[in-house]
Amino acid sequence: MARCYCRWRNVFICVCTPCICMALLFVYVGIMVCTTIRNTTSLGTMGLYGSEITHFVASGNLRNKTSAPLPKTFWDIYPNGDALWNRLQLSIDRHFNPILCPNNIKRRLESSTFHETLLRQSFSGVIDLAKWRNFDRLPHLMQEFVRHMQRRDYPALFQPDGICGAGAKDEKGPPLLLLAIKTTELNFKNRQAIRKTWGKVGWVAGQGRNSSGGKEGGGYVRRVFLLGKENPEELGVNSSELLQMENKRYGDILQWDFKDTFFNLTLKDVLFWSWFSRVCGQTHFVLKGDDDVLVNTPKLITYLQEQLKKPQAQETIKDFMIGDVIGAALPNRVNNSKYFVPDSFYKGFYPSYAGGGGVVYSGLLTKRLHIMSKRVHLFPIDDVYVGMCMVRLNAQPIHHPAFLTFDFPGKEEENVCSYHRVLLVHKRSPSQIVQLWADMEKTQTQCWNVPLRDPVTNGNKL
Ligand SMILES: *[C@@H]1O[C@H](CO)[C@@H](O)[C@H](O)[C@H]1NC(C)=O
Ligand SMILES: *[C@@H]1O[C@H](CO)[C@@H](O)[C@H](O)[C@H]1NC(C)=O
Ligand SMILES: *[C@@H]1O[C@H](CO)[C@@H](O)[C@H](O)[C@H]1NC(C)=O
Ligand SMILES: *[C@@H]1O[C@H](CO)[C@@H](O)[C@H](O)[C@H]1NC(C)=O
Ligand SMILES: *[C@@H]1O[C@H](CO)[C@@H](O)[C@H](O)[C@H]1NC(C)=O
Repeated sequence: MARCYCRWRNVFICVCTPCICMALLFVYVGIMVCTTIRNTTSLGTMGLYGSEITHFVASGNLRNKTSAPLPKTFWDIYPNGDALWNRLQLSIDRHFNPILCPNNIKRRLESSTFHETLLRQSFSGVIDLAKWRNFDRLPHLMQEFVRHMQRRDYPALFQPDGICGAGAKDEKGPPLLLLAIKTTELNFKNRQAIRKTWGKVGWVAGQGRNSSGGKEGGGYVRRVFLLGKENPEELGVNSSELLQMENKRYGDILQWDFKDTFFNLTLKDVLFWSWFSRVCGQTHFVLKGDDDVLVNTPKLITYLQEQLKKPQAQETIKDFMIGDVIGAALPNRVNNSKYFVPDSFYKGFYPSYAGGGGVVYSGLLTKRLHIMSKRVHLFPIDDVYVGMCMVRLNAQPIHHPAFLTFDFPGKEEENVCSYHRVLLVHKRSPSQIVQLWADMEKTQTQCWNVPLRDPVTNGNKL
């Protein structure tokens, strides 16, 4: 009996000791992996703004149902390996994978040029254009994009006079809002309409009213136009002399030496972020829009000041981006569309992104986007690219129905106060902008207290 017991005890020890050891090892590895992931999801904040990620909930809502599935970890976003962009980005994301390469995370702040050389290296490491057999099958414009997609160090040809856009003189406080508007050399009329109407710089009164009905609030607004270059031979004139005169007069031209084409628009975002990070440190918010939008600047100012006053704003404003958010979009596969992206170039969903007609984000977020953009390969659709950088910052754009990048639904526009209920409307010609702005000034007293389009009902109820 005793011997039997002894034998069973030995078996017990032989079998169970390794089991217990393995279990302890698993627990240890599990804890290590979890802490590493926790530390690196706050990697987007670069350790500059505290460690906790609390998402900013402005009045507006995330489109829960239609949001693209957001992966827990940023490095397995693009598992579909064989498309060109996915392959390029995978090599970068691997490089910053905290488990595969923990040391790279520590090195990340050491040199700001580090990431740019890294993008180039990953390009030549992953792809040899001469041998990539799908290259010839890409549409011509996409080929042009791919040939230049590892370059982004284009020099500035014109920069604003002021430190941070037009309007820097005579200001007593830091700017509340910088209007950054994408335009082209030829769209002089659009720029002029914006300068005369919603894009006026200096002190702009908000639409808030205090208890006795007096106007309350307001903020300093600055303006900058973002341009690439037209081809002077195609144009037949040398536009840089005209632009020089325009810049002398208004001081709001920021132009870089790259060809102003649709697929190059992403360069405007990336280079603007870089410029902003250098010279606009104090600006609270940026409105990035096209030159064919109408913005209700007074309402926007009031709205932004409300966001700043919210509890926890200090902590959460670093993630703040608001606009017309498009979730779970797929790349356009219609080969004659302007937005066509073939599946040999990109596979998978697009991340949630704010429609590029107009979007507002915080100055803090702009600086973080600048840093993050150095490790995200350029993508030909600019708003999607911003969304890709946001995912890597672990931040999500917030949807607000007062951003109408696809115009008013139904007959809503006919309402007298319709334009007082929105922050931004897309697709208006210069003459329409001037007319609508004049109308808005006329109806201002009548409509001053109408609320913005309702975030809860998505503005469908009117
Ligand atoms: C989205 O999710 C948040 C939090 O989970 C919730 O408060 C909100 O009501 C949801 N919105 C919609 C439109 O379902
Ligand atoms: C409201 O604003 C007006 C003008 O801006 C000012 O004269 C008035 O004192 C303010 N009233 C209160 C109660 O703050
Ligand atoms: C256009 O004008 C600018 C400024 O006068 C000059 O520097 C540039 O060389 C001109 N470009 C061409 C193609 O003539
Ligand atoms: C973008 O600009 C660069 C520099 O001018 C040019 O070489 C390239 O062809 C442009 N890309 C596209 C897609 O037009
Ligand atoms: C574009 O798509 C159509 C129909 O899907 C196809 O017939 C055509 O060959 C395609 N064109 C190119 C250039 O790929």
